Amino acid sequence: MMLTEIDHIAIAVRDLAAAVDYYQRAFGATIDHREVVERDGVEEVLLKVAESYIQLLTPTRPDSPVAKAIEKRGEGLHHVGYRVADCKATLAAMVAAGATPIDKEPRPGSRGTTVAFIHPKGSFGTLIELVEE
Ligand code: CO
Repeated sequence: MMLTEIDHIAIAVRDLAAAVDYYQRAFGATIDHREVVERDGVEEVLLKVAESYIQLLTPTRPDSPVAKAIEKRGEGLHHVGYRVADCKATLAAMVAAGATPIDKEPRPGSRGTTVAFIHPKGSFGTLIELVEE
């Protein structure tokens, strides 16, 4: 098994402050990490749950993929991050199994990780992100 943990579930929201406030009031959640990822046009907040995260994600510009997803489908579950020991090897295994990669090569993600996204088409409707710490 190449997956070592569910790294995060990513939830796309319009108002990041309101979503963080809600998770804090509802669950007593605390912010573990906050980052603007310019390349992806997103700001994210990570709320730690055991060894995984809930990632609240909001677009920072209208042409970001997350902005387009919210426009098309509304707020809600955006992708699932699977933690792996070797992003490159797992990406190759997925492609060999029939996956359609969005990233042909692993690239830098937030909090110093290495990531690769795989298209929902060919992966049973779920946008998958491989995350190597
Ligand atoms: Co993610």
